Amino acid sequence: MVGIFSRRQFASATGLSALGIAATAAGAKEREMKSAPDPHTAGGFPYGFVWGTATSSYQIEGAVDEDGRGRSIWDVFSHTPGKILDGTTGDRANDHYHRYKEDVRLIKELGAKAYRFSVSWPRLFPQGDGAPNPKGLDFYNRLIDELLASGIEPWLTLYHWDLPQSLQERFGGWRSTETCKAFADYAAFVAERLTDRVKHIFTLNESGRFVYFGYGSGIDAPGLTLSKAEVNQVRHNSALAHGLAVQAIRARGRAGTKIGPAENIAACLPAFDAPEHVRAAEIALREMNASFLNVVLEGKYTDAFLKWAGADAPKFSAEELRIISSPVDFVGLNIYAPEQYIVAADHAPGFSVLPMPASFPHMSSDWLRIGPETIYWVPRLAAKIWNLDAIYISENGTSSVDEPAPDGRIYDTDRIMYLRNYLAQLQRATAEGVPVRGYFLWSLMDNFEWVFGLNKRFGLYHVDFETLRRTPKLSVSFYRNVIARNAVGV
Ligand code: NOJ
Repeated sequence: MVGIFSRRQFASATGLSALGIAATAAGAKEREMKSAPDPHTAGGFPYGFVWGTATSSYQIEGAVDEDGRGRSIWDVFSHTPGKILDGTTGDRANDHYHRYKEDVRLIKELGAKAYRFSVSWPRLFPQGDGAPNPKGLDFYNRLIDELLASGIEPWLTLYHWDLPQSLQERFGGWRSTETCKAFADYAAFVAERLTDRVKHIFTLNESGRFVYFGYGSGIDAPGLTLSKAEVNQVRHNSALAHGLAVQAIRARGRAGTKIGPAENIAACLPAFDAPEHVRAAEIALREMNASFLNVVLEGKYTDAFLKWAGADAPKFSAEELRIISSPVDFVGLNIYAPEQYIVAADHAPGFSVLPMPASFPHMSSDWLRIGPETIYWVPRLAAKIWNLDAIYISENGTSSVDEPAPDGRIYDTDRIMYLRNYLAQLQRATAEGVPVRGYFLWSLMDNFEWVFGLNKRFGLYHVDFETLRRTPKLSVSFYRNVIARNAVGV
């Protein structure tokens, strides 16, 4: 599910002017890739391209009452009647907490060299702050050791939406900078204890979703419906939390730890490949991401955003902007669906957003429109706007109905169709020198898909939620083949 607040409204605002689009923030940015682009394997992805898969704590771990874990806002939300469409919760989910060794084996069998998982903040700090829970840390130590022993690199996400409930109750969650401070302390603790083995850390997963869905529309935990001004402030706080975490990890983690956000960038792309529409899409991408990615990467809110927000703009200080724009090493982009097709306009702000036709094709999730060119254009434009030299696709994938065939197997050719087309476009991007360094397929296995419960299956491995048996779908063979050949297409 995608969306930041009122993008359409923002796009159609009149009088937006003086949009400075020039690439900035280049100098300060640490270079992850110092040399010229890697040579490509013949027709394939660059040498050293990181192939991974991804999950998150609340969606797979289960064991919500074990070993001293505190409650998260998702525990409370999923137990509130009517909130989850199929009435399920993450109480047991995939029981990964107990079956992590089996799951690491699944990653190994896939041939993936990297695994993106998230740490459950309330497992480490049951109250969100205060004393850490050693048993919580033990779990992530075991998981990381198991991954490394299997030749898989752990990529850790600090926040994938399971905010400690205590912070929600005491401070109003992300409404308060107290939560930002607690997040920085938690990040420092993780950095201190785990960066001897974890070399890449994502700070926040999808500010673009958890802020508006959690605090604006109320679809996600904590289920609040606040005013536009309050939502803007919550989003600003999320950017501040990101920046504080970057600083905390630099201060307390091993030197060389790479850090970046994992953002569901508002995916703007040209309606078709004409230079004027490409230029317009570039303007749109920057403006539509003004309230998170752009402020993180440029250290300022755009004039157009501030004008649009007016009296509802977030309150902030120059010092906060400095923290928010602490240099990152890479940018993670979660890319699923085209969100805005853009054409050039001869009036400010220089672009128009086209209406999305009702007949636009989509996968088994209604929001998941099929637009493979999204994964070509969005990284290409993002790299240009923000002068990026290391982008990771931190998520891409699709849900599918995944009914077993008469022989009991799952031939998910629709998922393969989706992945094959997206990966072909990603390969086109890397071949043209767009600095995408890796790809994390969402998801390793079917799991708790938030408000949809266990009903939307995104996994490469099928999970029977009665028996918890994991079974490879045909897409496991597909992805293994891509990884082994470092290429899609023959
Ligand atoms: C993005 C989220 O990060 C992830 O948690 C979710 O399951 C997928 N999108 C699919 O909706």
